[in-house]
Amino acid sequence: MEQVKYWDKQFGQNSYIWGDEPSIATNIALSIFKEKQIKSILIPGVGYGRNSKVFTSTGFDVTGVEISSTACRLAQKYDPSLKLLNSSIFEIQLPEEEYDAVFCFDVLHLFLKGDRDKFIRKCEKLVKPGGFLFFTVLSEHDDYFRNGAEVEANTFEVKPGKLIHFFSKLDLENSFAQFNKLQEGEILDSVSHAQHGQKEYRIRYICVQKQ
Ligand SMILES: C[S@@+](CC[C@H](N)C(=O)[O-])C[C@H]1O[C@@H](n2cnc3c(N)ncnc32)[C@H](O)[C@@H]1O
Repeated sequence: MEQVKYWDKQFGQNSYIWGDEPSIATNIALSIFKEKQIKSILIPGVGYGRNSKVFTSTGFDVTGVEISSTACRLAQKYDPSLKLLNSSIFEIQLPEEEYDAVFCFDVLHLFLKGDRDKFIRKCEKLVKPGGFLFFTVLSEHDDYFRNGAEVEANTFEVKPGKLIHFFSKLDLENSFAQFNKLQEGEILDSVSHAQHGQKEYRIRYICVQKQ
């Protein structure tokens, strides 16, 4: 419930918070998804569709799951081809092994360890055998690292009500250890932020395949 309140407020105050340019991480995912001949993509925490639009506009069948109804309203306008489900990824009932791939941008780091593991297990169930999971998360090299009180190892309350877990390379690899790893890396993601102007985030990505 806390996540709903927090994100409804953010999207209510700032609308298209991170502007209308997709993250460069979508280029990496797009080239993998094309090479692997992916057709259907599930995007948990799709926000207002900043990144989903890259996939809907290149012919993929894309379903977004988003907990904030305010974000969903924005996404309906921003990316009308997106199939949108207003729910928490933890609660949503979808057919298992339905999707060729999951693309999840900067959502996993919002949770404590128990919920991060639950999140990954849920995505694993929804992807077909042989399907792919592409995740981005904040890196421990990001400027925000160690801001606020540490509530769990490498997880900080950076603002009231907002937790961020900062991933090291090993931490990210361990989180997806049950899969076959295809690619991983660290990138500097530049964003035009509605409140703070041009901002840069250090993010890690990993792409894995379900056995
Ligand atoms: C940092 S934003 C990233 C937005 C989006 N992935 C993008 O690429 O612009 C995190 C998003 O995850 C959503 N979210 C948080 N917890 C969620 C949950 N349990 N289920 C679905 N969405 C969630 C938030 O509402 C927010 O839109």
